[in-house]
Amino acid sequence: MILQQLTKEIERRRTFAIISHPDAGKTTLTEKLLLYGGAIQIAGAVKSNKIKKTATSDWMEIERQRGISVATSVMGFEYKDLNINILDTPGHQDFAEDTFRTLTAVDSVIVVIDVAKGVEPQTEKLVKVCRMRKTPIIVFINKLDRPGKDGFELLDEVEQKLDLKVTPLSWPINMGPGFKGVYNIFEKNLYLFEANKQRVEEGLSFDDVHDPELEKLIGDDAGLLREELTLIDGVYPDFEREAYLNGSICPVFFGSALNNFGVKELLDCFIQIAPTPIGRNSEERHVAPEEEAFSGFVFKIHANMDPNHRDRIAFLRIVSGKFERNKPYHHVRLDRKLKFSNPTAFMAQKKSVVDEAYPGDIVGLYDAGNFKIGDTLTEGELLHYKGIPSFSPELFRYVENADPLKSKQLAKGIDQLMDEGVAQLFTGKATGRKIIGTVGALQFEVIQYRLLHEYGASCRYEPITLHKTAWITSDNKAMLDDFKARKASFLAYDKEGRDVFLADSPYSLQTAMEKYPDIKFYFTSEF
Ligand code: G4P
Repeated sequence: MILQQLTKEIERRRTFAIISHPDAGKTTLTEKLLLYGGAIQIAGAVKSNKIKKTATSDWMEIERQRGISVATSVMGFEYKDLNINILDTPGHQDFAEDTFRTLTAVDSVIVVIDVAKGVEPQTEKLVKVCRMRKTPIIVFINKLDRPGKDGFELLDEVEQKLDLKVTPLSWPINMGPGFKGVYNIFEKNLYLFEANKQRVEEGLSFDDVHDPELEKLIGDDAGLLREELTLIDGVYPDFEREAYLNGSICPVFFGSALNNFGVKELLDCFIQIAPTPIGRNSEERHVAPEEEAFSGFVFKIHANMDPNHRDRIAFLRIVSGKFERNKPYHHVRLDRKLKFSNPTAFMAQKKSVVDEAYPGDIVGLYDAGNFKIGDTLTEGELLHYKGIPSFSPELFRYVENADPLKSKQLAKGIDQLMDEGVAQLFTGKATGRKIIGTVGALQFEVIQYRLLHEYGASCRYEPITLHKTAWITSDNKAMLDDFKARKASFLAYDKEGRDVFLADSPYSLQTAMEKYPDIKFYFTSEF
């Protein structure tokens, strides 16, 4: 009975993220999807949480955006009796690590591509992470109401730049001012374009595109559409759900999010083909969602906006079993029981306390500093979920205390911000100086601002000549000791106390690797 209920709940859930290069239309598409779920009533209700390029030096703006991004971190809605969770991902590349971590908590993704711009760099990076994890991908080519690249050229670009095999499930009839609509290959329907659709009708059934009716509807474009569909049939593989689910083929849709065109078809296909919540690998074993015992992992931590409360929200993805309010769970890293009296679910922009949650759901746990990204909660079993590791940062600075009376606050602030995954901290072995490493320049200023506003601590940065950090291990103790003795001034340890080599140039890294062949140099923290 319990298992039956659990299976039923799992089958009702779809948890995914929309990813794109900034400005491709992620926010617009999210909003339109929420409209279908009735989660919001009016367009414009979902504020973009992207940090606009023009606002990168406006810290109040970042704080405001951070507030919005708590509300839109997870947007749940119901559609055709399914519980759909959209996880938001920051578009700004300086927050790419945040997005990588969010991708560990979803079961599939929709990639939005701008028809005129094609595949852009941020899309390439994010899709690479999805490919590593074999996450099923659907591509939505957006802004067909504007002139753009030819459909076949775009499919080629997706195949080449994203290294994905594609199969179009819809096909545009013209684009830009002459855009007439799309033929839905998946459902064999024709949808005629109308700007700003408020009401969405079913498509016109068109099993046989050779039907002369087609001329009546789209005029001379009928011939070209037939030719292109024949070409598609010959060139691209038939859609097979299995291949999509194991990440080896990705269906492509065309539409215009702004005009609410092609969005319903995308959603209707998505709910048919997208995976239900899937299990996750832990260091110990694979855990299936249908397992009765609850387990989950923290993939994101968000500081509360209210500076009077040092609360944070830890976002937990439920992997298996049923999560219940007020039930004690085992915090594996701390080896402690914790219970949660106010776990939060996110339905669109409303937050509400939940009594129970199921695999695929994300719950927000109020946290006074117990959680780090990657922490696992279970009913007692010792499981450690594998996530996306931290990557060796790209930018480094020494961080110094600028207010000697506030050194405790500074230490605590830095500690907690690192737990949130804002940046990585290294401590020089010889000097004891603290080094902050980030993936984007923006984080340095975010850290400085937040230390001051949330912890009352002041810091200043000093430059450091550092090319890369590498975690080091070796089975050859003599060689490791020799390396450590000779490179003493280039050694540090990370927050977990692991040895890190500070390479000041590509040359010194290369020579160290050549001279010490028994030492392993790692550029991600998971080894
Ligand atoms: P993002 O979250 O991926 O960064 O993109 P967002 O949805 O904010 O969209 C970026 C811009 O592209 C917005 O215009 C949005 O209105 C526009 N857009 C989205 N979908 C379409 C579409 O199908 N057709 C056309 N023509 N435009 C589209 P903006 O001027 O930057 O912002 P706003 O002032 O309209 O909010």
